[in-house]
Amino acid sequence: MITIRNETPEDYKALLRLTYDAFLTLDYPGRRRMDEHYLLHLLRSSPSVIRELTFVAERDGEVVGHILYTHSAISRPDGGETATLTFGPLSVLPQYQRSGIGAALVRHSMDRARELGHGAVLITGVTDYYPKLGFRRAREFGLTLEDGTAPDAFMAYELTDGYLGADGGVARFLAPEYELAETDDAGYAAFHERFRAEFGVE
Ligand SMILES: CC(C)(COP(=O)(O)OP(=O)(O)OC[C@H]1O[C@@H](n2cnc3c(N)ncnc32)[C@H](O)[C@@H]1OP(=O)(O)O)[C@@H](O)C(=O)NCCC(=O)NCCS
Repeated sequence: MITIRNETPEDYKALLRLTYDAFLTLDYPGRRRMDEHYLLHLLRSSPSVIRELTFVAERDGEVVGHILYTHSAISRPDGGETATLTFGPLSVLPQYQRSGIGAALVRHSMDRARELGHGAVLITGVTDYYPKLGFRRAREFGLTLEDGTAPDAFMAYELTDGYLGADGGVARFLAPEYELAETDDAGYAAFHERFRAEFGVE
């Protein structure tokens, strides 16, 4: 039986390991390195994270899945701005993948986000997965990334029908940690060295 609850500070160590193990199963063209556990570390006490929207899935007391949200926004052609949410990393332990836990975490957290008054979720993620949960290609809403592209991996979900409107715009992922995790080579190396020693992994 799976239960979903908010994350607590005591979950940190289990979530670091969970994130590392989950993302070992992900590969895509151009993947530079596996740094999602470093991202989780950077986000640990960051004001970027919306604490009411961090959730863990438990199975018989074991943490088996995790999702967290940060703020994002759309810069509109008329100079206006629309507030949105972004989630990630989203992780499910390899041995429990494809048993509905990821979908349960996404649905549960998006229901809560809607209750809290949020209007839409923008993500870049696994292209074949999120459409199963109702996400659409962001370009269908006229949205692009900051570099002007709108790849399949860039997807959107309206928590409130019509929230994204028809004006389009440029998505901005406001948490600096997403880019930092990918670019801060020295920080990553130092962190991963400590992580390897603590968890005994490669
Ligand atoms: C991607 C991930 C979060 C999905 O969670 P999950 O619990 O394994 O997936 P679910 O059981 O909720 O899957 C729901 C549906 O999506 C499908 N699905 C699951 N993973 C998929 C994938 N990587 N690609 C395409 N479809 C996928 C399932 O088969 C299922 O389809 P169905 O409803 O037709 O049976 C999880 O596999 C994971 O942690 N992967 C490694 C890390 C990762 O890639 N995170 C997301 C980065 S954006």
